[in-house]
Amino acid sequence: MQQLDELSDDDLIGVYRVEDRSVPHLRANFVSSLDGAVEIDGQSKALSSDSDSRVFSMIRRLADVVLVGAGTIRDEGYRPLRLSAASRSWRTAQGLPENPTLAIVSSRLELSPVNPVFQSAERPIVITHEASPPDRREALAEVADLVVLGAAEVDLTAVLQELAGRGMPQILCEGGPHLLGALTIADLVDELCLALAPLLAGPGSGRITAGLPTTLTRQLKLATLLTASDDYLFFRYLRES
Ligand SMILES: NC(=O)c1ccc[n+]([C@@H]2O[C@H](COP(=O)([O-])OP(=O)(O)OC[C@H]3O[C@@H](n4cnc5c(N)ncnc54)[C@H](OP(=O)(O)O)[C@@H]3O)[C@@H](O)[C@H]2O)c1
Repeated sequence: MQQLDELSDDDLIGVYRVEDRSVPHLRANFVSSLDGAVEIDGQSKALSSDSDSRVFSMIRRLADVVLVGAGTIRDEGYRPLRLSAASRSWRTAQGLPENPTLAIVSSRLELSPVNPVFQSAERPIVITHEASPPDRREALAEVADLVVLGAAEVDLTAVLQELAGRGMPQILCEGGPHLLGALTIADLVDELCLALAPLLAGPGSGRITAGLPTTLTRQLKLATLLTASDDYLFFRYLRES
């Protein structure tokens, strides 16, 4: 167990970096209350803290692409990804683009082309399937790179292959629960980074995963555990190879 507050940013990068960036890797990053809540009043903001923001931004620094469900874009009010100056210069020094690409998974395409997330020179990727509404696809193709994978539902295995094929093997899933549920059912999660917030949120919220029940389970192995002075815990669990 390590103390987050004693780690420099470089140390922290050392905790979260993968050995070989060229090997496709799906990392999910979530924050939860002690009693398992994924949101408070519809957002994760009240679950977060300074230490959580620090770890969150270091994890983002390492990503080629940030993969999110359309629900998270809508509920969390996502904006174009623009990392801190320190993160951008760190990435440039590593030969990476200044910011990771944003990739949004959606079935219904209930996303307005004027959503702030599309107001950037760096066009996000919108990933959908063949049965999604063609008129919405056409409208979103004006502001994003439209990728169609799967007949009646998004083929998530193909999504990871597509992103790796576009030179983005390091995939960070920032949610939400339905996307994590689908990735879990497809057994595609290589790593879960979980921040545990020291609070009881009470009944009402869902968990970090959602969707149809499954009997599938996936054993993960604890890689690191950080403690922070604000009583947050940061777990990093990896799929056993
Ligand atoms: N605590 C945390 O770390 C954290 C992280 C993220 C989100 N959240 C919270 O989670 C809540 C949102 O939950 P959510 O489950 O709605 O989030 P979500 O998984 O991001 O969004 C669900 C929507 O995303 C699209 N989607 C997800 N998986 C898909 C798949 N396999 N195929 C096709 N489309 C897919 C669909 O969009 P369409 O409806 O457009 O088809 C679906 O309705 C919010 O309250 C947010 O604050 C918490």
